Amino acid sequence: MAAPDRFLLAAVMGWPISQSRSPMLHNFWFAQHGLNGSYVPLAVPPEQLEAALRALPALNFAGCNLTIPLKQDAMKIVDEVDITAQKIGAMSCVVVRKDGSLSGSNNDWYGFTHNVLELVPGWRADAGPVAVMGAGGGSRAVVYGLLERGAKEIRLCNRTHARALTLAKEFGGPITVLKWEERHDAVDGCAMLVNATNQGMIGQAALDLRLDKLPKTALVNDIIYNPRETPLIEAARRRGHRTVTGLGMLLHQGIPAWKAWFGIEPKVTAELRAKIEATL
Ligand SMILES: NC(=O)c1ccc[n+]([C@@H]2O[C@H](COP(=O)([O-])OP(=O)(O)OC[C@H]3O[C@@H](n4cnc5c(N)ncnc54)[C@H](OP(=O)(O)O)[C@@H]3O)[C@@H](O)[C@H]2O)c1
Repeated sequence: MAAPDRFLLAAVMGWPISQSRSPMLHNFWFAQHGLNGSYVPLAVPPEQLEAALRALPALNFAGCNLTIPLKQDAMKIVDEVDITAQKIGAMSCVVVRKDGSLSGSNNDWYGFTHNVLELVPGWRADAGPVAVMGAGGGSRAVVYGLLERGAKEIRLCNRTHARALTLAKEFGGPITVLKWEERHDAVDGCAMLVNATNQGMIGQAALDLRLDKLPKTALVNDIIYNPRETPLIEAARRRGHRTVTGLGMLLHQGIPAWKAWFGIEPKVTAELRAKIEATL
């Protein structure tokens, strides 16, 4: 049988999936590179995840991304989970290998660090203490990224104290867990503040955090990208802080996925950012 035309395929699986910006991101890159390919959103309920992932090789998919609520479930299904995804405790990306087996990784931490590096060239995680609010999946990627970049002091606050303690214990390293009630003081003397809670996201209240003890020189990053600018980012900007919004974290995590799927290193450009920001 003659080989079929090479048509590149990848997907994002989630439940629900209709709000995902990933198809716009990846299809932008297909068009930009003049490639014959498509990236499709797949609504996959958790109980169908195994069947959906196992179907990828037969359907000629190079792999897929995973989003809420499938990032943990997928770890039990794929044939190999890399060390990073194991440590973060979630998978964001699946690669179909030549033999049809599936390997899982997590690129969210890369998205976090490279978004900051793009917007604040020369950024150093070891420039001073970093306060991180939240201890969910996003926070685990953020803390991993900060440790990868050599952070010397991470102050972690989460509404549910036990969850922050678990994160700190699992990760080890220079993480101090503070009570949620102590969050306003936790930012004292920090070089960076990261919001990795869902507070400030569309449909949620703003993050309840006073900034008066945060040095004006501190960098403020919110990993939320919908809305484009959260109340925290607006408040920080009014105080004169340098700020980094969350969209670029989503955009940059696509780069290692493309390298693994297609052997191509796409770029996050101003045009790409503007195109996706226009939908937020
Ligand atoms: N830019 C990106 O690429 C990217 C990547 C990942 C995540 N995100 C964003 O990051 C946010 C968090 O996502 P996630 O995956 O980490 O979610 P998650 O695992 O469900 O964690 C939610 C976090 O928010 C905290 N939280 C929830 N309600 C709260 C409240 N009323 N007051 C204080 N804290 C509260 C939770 O604290 P408890 O432990 O006490 O519940 C937990 O720390 C979402 O908005 C998501 O869109 C963005």
